[in-house]
Amino acid sequence: MRVLSGIQPSGAIHLGNYLGALTNWVRNQSESSFYAVVDLHSLTLDIDPEELRKNTRELVATLFAVGLDPAVATVFVQSHVAPHAQLSWLLECTASYGELTRMTQFKEKAERQGSYRVGLLTYPVLMAADILLYQTTHVPVGDDQRQHLELARNLAERFNNRFGQTFTIPEGIVPAVGARVMDLQDPTRKMSKSLHSPTGTLNIYDSPEDIERKIKRAVTDNDGDVAFDWTRKPGLSNLLEIFSSITDREPAQIAAGYTRYGDLKSDLATALIETLRPIRERFETLMADQAELDRLVSLGDNRARPVAEATYSLAASRMGLVS
Ligand code: TYM
Repeated sequence: MRVLSGIQPSGAIHLGNYLGALTNWVRNQSESSFYAVVDLHSLTLDIDPEELRKNTRELVATLFAVGLDPAVATVFVQSHVAPHAQLSWLLECTASYGELTRMTQFKEKAERQGSYRVGLLTYPVLMAADILLYQTTHVPVGDDQRQHLELARNLAERFNNRFGQTFTIPEGIVPAVGARVMDLQDPTRKMSKSLHSPTGTLNIYDSPEDIERKIKRAVTDNDGDVAFDWTRKPGLSNLLEIFSSITDREPAQIAAGYTRYGDLKSDLATALIETLRPIRERFETLMADQAELDRLVSLGDNRARPVAEATYSLAASRMGLVS
């Protein structure tokens, strides 16, 4: 099993990132897993250079703080491994404009922004390059990345058919609960870094007071019945699913233990505070030693690079580029 996944350094890491992806990364870590801080992807947004630098450093520390072990898994920074951008170009020359404009995330973001950059359109091809460079068999992601993953599979199959066997066809690992954590203020849309919803987004480094406040104010409904039912009770079901993800109990089973929303919210807030506290403490310790963090990143970069270079060379030569 070869695992690869990525996360963007484009802002604070929220509960959706943590439950939808990072907990699975930690669970699936082994010597053949690769986890990238995908800084090149963040350039598709209008991000301030100083902020990107700060976010990238903090995200590397966060990956170790949530439990990735540098002695086991490879944690690296995408832009430090040149074949990502190189393979992305080769794949762009096999992808069609139509299939990229059909990507739901592109359509949503392009609509919101009015005018958009070419990078926003080609972003899923860069993601495909990230995955295919490592001959990845499994990609742990949240639900919102399914379509991008499907594109990576299609591009790989197309390339293999046209130029000969080059890439492994990857599969997604999407968690049964927590794959789609919704906004606490609007449970019809997913919790997101890019949508501005300060009280609807719970960041993993929020203070205990903020966590309590956000959970207490989370939108539910007025029928007073504690039940797990996404159609009738999306707000409450979101809270139950979050609770389930951090306790490994079934959402319906948790619901059965409560008669009042207030009690459920208060226990959930306590459980979240206790889950996130040690992560924050490890993060602070890691951030206090930048030299050590830099060392860990270059360790990861150096492990990732030869794997990526080998696949890139093979793909380039298959396409007719002279070495
Ligand atoms: P990104 O940075 O937006 O999110 C990182 C991971 O968090 C998951 N996620 C969620 N899961 C559940 N509920 C939510 N509300 C929620 N919001 C985000 C995402 O599904 C993702 O797994 N394109 C990717 C990054 C990427 C990548 C890759 C992923 C680049 N290259 C290669 C896998 C493999 C992205 O923007 O994720």
